[in-house]
Amino acid sequence: MVIVSSSSDDLPGPRGLPILGNVLQNPLDREWLQYTAWGKQFGNIFKLNLFRQNVIIINSRKVAVDLLEKRSAIYSDRPRLIMAGELVGWNKGVTLRRPIITELRRYRKDLHGMLGSKATRQFWPVQEKAAKELILSLSKDPSDFFAHIRRAVTSTVVKIAYGHDIDSNQDPFVTLAEKAQANFSLAATPNAFVVDWFPPVKFIPDWMPMAGFKRKAYLWRRQLEDLLEMTIETVKRAIETGVVEPSYVSTLLMSRGLDGDAEDEIKWSALSLYTGGADTTVVPLTTLVLVLVLHPEIKARLQREMDLVTSGTRLPNFQDRDSLPFLRACLLEVMRFRPAIPSGVAHRVVTEDVYKGFRIPKGAPICLHHDLYNPEKIQPDRFLAGDNEDRTLAVFGFGRRICPGLHTAQDSLFILAASMVAAFDFLPICDTMGNPRLPMVNYTTGMISHPEQFKCQIIPRSKEIIPFIEESE
Ligand code: HEM
Repeated sequence: MVIVSSSSDDLPGPRGLPILGNVLQNPLDREWLQYTAWGKQFGNIFKLNLFRQNVIIINSRKVAVDLLEKRSAIYSDRPRLIMAGELVGWNKGVTLRRPIITELRRYRKDLHGMLGSKATRQFWPVQEKAAKELILSLSKDPSDFFAHIRRAVTSTVVKIAYGHDIDSNQDPFVTLAEKAQANFSLAATPNAFVVDWFPPVKFIPDWMPMAGFKRKAYLWRRQLEDLLEMTIETVKRAIETGVVEPSYVSTLLMSRGLDGDAEDEIKWSALSLYTGGADTTVVPLTTLVLVLVLHPEIKARLQREMDLVTSGTRLPNFQDRDSLPFLRACLLEVMRFRPAIPSGVAHRVVTEDVYKGFRIPKGAPICLHHDLYNPEKIQPDRFLAGDNEDRTLAVFGFGRRICPGLHTAQDSLFILAASMVAAFDFLPICDTMGNPRLPMVNYTTGMISHPEQFKCQIIPRSKEIIPFIEESE
């Protein structure tokens, strides 16, 4: 992990240049790889200096727990993100919200009421329906599996947040939200925009060549505002006509009334469900497909475990979860192997602090977990021992800002992954000589890191499952 501050010379870190500090060494792309390398050199907590602003990196779970959980009263702020927060406008959302304490508590209470470990079970039918739809889409058009997985995840989150059923990939709830989400991931990439480490450039005139970031921010802001208006207006119209599906927004709108402030808070916190929950949940699922294609021994074990439960005649459901421990271990392992948010979401310490003799000024820790195990070796068995789970769950963050959707996310992951394993075999594409061509896959940069698209064969495993779903639809 890393922490940023105005004067933390106590901490070790790479030597930088006068004034620029480590600006030229700090990667704008897949920064977590360099942070992991620096972690090996400088230890579990070190600092970077970007234009005189110190950034503190925490590179172990223990330091993260010591600071972000045990001292969460002072480590739960978010850093000022000028590009994503102020210029594009995301600082009103939950994720970048600076602690205006009462508002943040209210947001988190609303979210917890809906997504807490027990409450989230109300969405199991929505999640099971999305799993069935995923299986049908994969059976009709397996080559587009990335889009089908994304749609399954998105439709679940949109249903939970807005009560809206997505009926095509052209649905504005999908198109506008995906655009806004992609923009957010780029805008919030740590240190990717000069304005975030050198705030005075915010004031340069729009017409100057260096002001490209401002023009980008205006466009992204407009797209974000369109999305916010479209989503809340859709639910308000449904309430007015009396035909309203229960959802996060409709429940809060009906209990709090439609006055301006309440409405503003509701639309922002609902959008945070989407931005927090859609793109992130896609990553472990697409990574699992990759693991199934590259590791036939893992796939065979998963299939054997599944067949004992379903006998190849039906899709699994939530009641089957305890009988599928290897699947659970595989899901934890893919989240550890390729965390959806490799550098975490930065926290900021609000007062000066001292940790193990190091002075920690106000700063923004970025969580990295790659030091925990050999990051490149897939070994689901490590989770069957039972004591390693907390470490993977660190991918959901720490302390008062821990992901409020972690239970909902794990439920969606379980049911979508289990259904795919039950229904399909995943194989590499073969060349003309019949030799398998294993996909070599890079992960994208940005706050959320996805596997780049790859090809594989997805073939039904059982003659019974797909007709069974079609009949039950
Ligand atoms: C595999 C899926 C997911 C991963 C890996 C993930 C990861 C994270 C992480 C790392 C954070 C920041 C935590 C911190 O600052 O310490 C976060 C925040 C958040 N997540 Fe998730 N998340 C996932 C799914 C979801 C889902 C399904 C939802 C909602 C339905 C959700 C909603 C949120 C929200 C609203 C925040 C902001 C919380 C705050 O700043 O107070 N996430 N998530």
